Amino acid sequence: MDQLVQKALAARKNSYSPYSKFAVGAALECGDGTVITGTNVENASYGLSICAERSALVKAISEGKRKFKRLAIVTDSPEPAAPCGMCRQMLIEFAPSLEVILANLKGKSEVLRLSDLLPKAFRLG
Ligand code: THU
Repeated sequence: MDQLVQKALAARKNSYSPYSKFAVGAALECGDGTVITGTNVENASYGLSICAERSALVKAISEGKRKFKRLAIVTDSPEPAAPCGMCRQMLIEFAPSLEVILANLKGKSEVLRLSDLLPKAFRLG
């Protein structure tokens, strides 16, 4: 298994998802080679929940990272799950050509390009 997927799998174990019971792990490979992970964190006020991908992104930005090469996402779903629209929009601001690796617990995976997942992304100007 790809090391980045393994890190996303490990991050998934920290998921706080008592409401949906849908745990997600993400691992973001930065331009300098470091990997920042994230998981989904839910809240009793459901709409406040944050996805694994954005958790990883805001952690990385907070650590001073601005360039990203790859993102691995791990879910326990029949098919590997693609990131939600909000996460796509947040990620594309920094890395339009990000390689996105989707994987599930059965070992199924798929590699996509973020620009293909979000064509005609919103930009100011
Ligand atoms: N979730 C993610 O972490 N990433 C996505 O791209 C979509 C959904 C989380 C949010 C919520 O905690 C749970 O999965 C079910 O929607």
